Amino acid sequence: MSETTQRTTDMETENRTDTQTDPETTTGETEEQVQDEWRNYEFAGEPKLAVDDLDVYYGDDHALKGVSMDIPKNSVTALIGPSGCGKSTFLRCLNRMNDRVKSARIDGSVKLDGQEIYQEGVNLVELRKRVGMVFQSPNPFPKSIAENISYGPRKHGDIETGLLARLLGRANEDERDELVERCLRDAALWDEVSDRLDDNALGLSGGQQQRLCIARCLSVDPEVILMDEPASALDPIATAKIEDLIDDLSEHYTVVIVTHNMQQAARISDQTAVFLTGGELVEYDDTDKIFENPQSQRVEEYISGKFG
Ligand SMILES: Nc1ncnc2c1ncn2[C@@H]1O[C@H](COP(=O)(O)OP(=O)(O)OP(=O)(O)O)[C@@H](O)[C@H]1O
Ligand SMILES: [Mg+2]
Repeated sequence: MSETTQRTTDMETENRTDTQTDPETTTGETEEQVQDEWRNYEFAGEPKLAVDDLDVYYGDDHALKGVSMDIPKNSVTALIGPSGCGKSTFLRCLNRMNDRVKSARIDGSVKLDGQEIYQEGVNLVELRKRVGMVFQSPNPFPKSIAENISYGPRKHGDIETGLLARLLGRANEDERDELVERCLRDAALWDEVSDRLDDNALGLSGGQQQRLCIARCLSVDPEVILMDEPASALDPIATAKIEDLIDDLSEHYTVVIVTHNMQQAARISDQTAVFLTGGELVEYDDTDKIFENPQSQRVEEYISGKFG
């Protein structure tokens, strides 16, 4: 049995709070005990998402350990931490994308507007419409720019009316055009593509494709947008466009973004959660506080580039 597996198994059989006193680290960070007050971020208003004591296992691998955090509405929350610490795993739990991973087992609670998403009877299509996702590599459909936007709403809310209208030959083209324009404008892409809406989306640049994916995500009217390193494959100019866009989006949407880019997290987020080795949330606070005056020594070392 590998050292990691052994440690995971040991911890599974112990009381969860014992994991907080486990001094072992694997990437060279300073040993320290995580303190609850470092991650009890308090803010005014109701949380949009409330995560409580979330554990995720992939087979024997304990990828997330007892993570609790409340995510405020209409703001940008950044998730940072070294590779393999569970950021994507955490993000995928917020719209139950991990349900698709056969080996994954999830314990704990995630509430969206106070409603548990991990309970029987939750409509996953509806959940993923409310909590949309943008991935690291842009993945537009191999269809026209306009169809990339209109596809989702047709599949979701407008299924009955849209289908009926189409069958009766009364599909509302104007409505579709309006939606396409609105979403492309909101994703700061309209000016670049308005004269070629019927061109294949795969002909766009990487940065444009990523904004198209954001536009596609907006087309079904989500409340939360999860982004997993959305700009990591882009050049600085395309990245700056995505960052500006995220800033605008946070007026109306709750954005949760994973990034490896510290400056990006510092620039665009309101609050930052730092995950460290072993799938633990170590510190969660206002972004300024995390970057200027973190409480955890390991977090300080991580954000100053001493490890990770
Ligand atoms: N589908 C999966 N099946 C099995 N193990 C997985 C799966 N996805 C993630 N893991 C494991 O869970 C742990 C956390 O992975 P995760 O992808 O969440 O990390 P991350 O913080 O997003 O890393 P990165 O910064 O490299 O993207 C890792 O040990 C990883 O190997
Ligand atoms: Mg990841």
